[in-house]
Amino acid sequence: MTSPDRITAAVLASFDGCPDARLRELLHGLVAHLHAFAAETRLAEREWQAAIRILTESGRLTGDERQEFILWSDALGVSMLVDALAHSGAGGATESTVLGPFWAAGSPRREYGASIAEQAGGTPAWVHGRVLDLDRRPIAGAELDVWQNAENRLYAVQDPDAPEAHLRGRFRARADGGYAFLGVRPVPYPIPDDGPVGRMLHATGRHPWRPAHLHIKVTAPGYRTLVTHIFDADSPYLDSDAVFAVKPSLVRRFAPRAYDDPERPAGVSGDWCSVQNDVVLAPGEG
Ligand SMILES: [Fe+2]
Repeated sequence: MTSPDRITAAVLASFDGCPDARLRELLHGLVAHLHAFAAETRLAEREWQAAIRILTESGRLTGDERQEFILWSDALGVSMLVDALAHSGAGGATESTVLGPFWAAGSPRREYGASIAEQAGGTPAWVHGRVLDLDRRPIAGAELDVWQNAENRLYAVQDPDAPEAHLRGRFRARADGGYAFLGVRPVPYPIPDDGPVGRMLHATGRHPWRPAHLHIKVTAPGYRTLVTHIFDADSPYLDSDAVFAVKPSLVRRFAPRAYDDPERPAGVSGDWCSVQNDVVLAPGEG
């Protein structure tokens, strides 16, 4: 009979000839930990078969509009762990957090101060700030790719009734690093919980909710790409985000503003709110 240890050793040895040292290291680590997991938990055959069915279903669900594997990565905290390993917090740069499953390439380019809403709904939110380097000098021309959910909790990629470009846009920082756009106040939402990730959450007594936030991805030549959020300080779930993505430095107050406020943005007729958020990029590439 072959012992568990001999099986693990044989699989590890099968990668010894791998010419790519990093690939060899990753596969060695993966096999060692995966085998140790099975051995320590005394993983039963039916449990492993169930895991394979769950992965199969996750693959079937995943396509252009649904990404169950990012949800697994987020809900198991792997996204935030990889993020923490990659970004050790370079002195004063804005902290990063998860990309999430709802980013989509090709958001429309919009002018400074433009609205990202393609249809009505929600409380208008004037989002503004500057893109700066570590010395607080402006980074002119930095690109901000923003996306957020609507009053009905959905991102445009999830909502067949929303125009494709709804609540998404790309902006360029001005010469002084300034950026601004008119969004809507984001609302808390559950991560999609009608698939395998949702069943895991329900079976373990976890809730699927994320606190209200906007997503921002900021790129500029010579600087590290930043993927981050602006969290609403008044939102529930800041202390129990289903994907562990809250960092205190990313929480901002959305200030209520009245309809007759002289700074009321064009196109706003009722009450609105504003949030100030400077973005600081670390030098580097990619
Ligand atoms: Fe989100």
